[in-house]
Amino acid sequence: MSTEGLQAMLDTAVTAARQAGRLQKERLWGEFTFDFKGEVDIVTEVDRACEELIVSRIAAAFPGHSFLAEENLYADGDPAWRWVIDPLDGTTNYAHGFPWFCVSIALEHEGELTLGVIYHCMMDELFTAVRGGGAFLNGKPIRVSSRKPLRHSLIATGFPYDVARGNENNFRNFFELQLAARGVRRAGAAALDLAYVAAGRLEGYWECKLKPWDVAAGSLLVREAGGMVTNHKGEPHRIGDHRILASNGLIHEEIEALLERAEKSAPLL
Ligand code: IPD
Ligand code: CA
Ligand code: CA
Repeated sequence: MSTEGLQAMLDTAVTAARQAGRLQKERLWGEFTFDFKGEVDIVTEVDRACEELIVSRIAAAFPGHSFLAEENLYADGDPAWRWVIDPLDGTTNYAHGFPWFCVSIALEHEGELTLGVIYHCMMDELFTAVRGGGAFLNGKPIRVSSRKPLRHSLIATGFPYDVARGNENNFRNFFELQLAARGVRRAGAAALDLAYVAAGRLEGYWECKLKPWDVAAGSLLVREAGGMVTNHKGEPHRIGDHRILASNGLIHEEIEALLERAEKSAPLL
């Protein structure tokens, strides 16, 4: 793939992310409809409108590419080029007017994450990464933090929508890590948690039951910013893995050990 070709793909993703972000900002705190996807999780008309906007813009520039996007199935294009899109990560926040959400767009080429874009419109912060080319925030290079140990670290997590029913509710993990870290945040947008690890604003992040679109762009950002991304056992994270652990690398083993201890302890619910 040529550098120019890759740059054109990045530019298209950035334009699409910014346009979707603008739409999210305009419609936040206004009227919009929503539907239930499950017992508690919803999808708003803004999620759908953003997805349509992003997919149509990318498809117009790169006809034949394939898409894995959260809200719709798309007729398959060339599987060698697959865009993985969360048009609005943090839907629950969005629907409640809690201004913490983002757009997440990644591109895989022959199964390898190649570029990632996360746009947080409320802060006008654009996180970008291209494989092998580093990670950036609004065009400036970013690095993971050099803080350790876990006791002095700020980390983040999230809980699945079926937290009240599921066997994998993350409570035991949360209990262990809240006791061990300086603080644990639960802000409600997985992609932003990952972008914040990449930017050195969080030392680590873990979660269970995630989907490819939640983590695709963010995991590339963390790696390109010098961090580590694995499953909860420390094996390299692949895009289909439901469990993720991302960190600055320096507190990775400490978190891993506590996740292992949590797994062996008695359920809290
Ligand atoms: C959710 C958010 C949340 C995480 C959930 C995700 P959505 O994505 O990333 O932080 O805890 O597991 O499903 O539904 O807002 O796109
Ligand atoms: Ca999501
Ligand atoms: Ca979403």
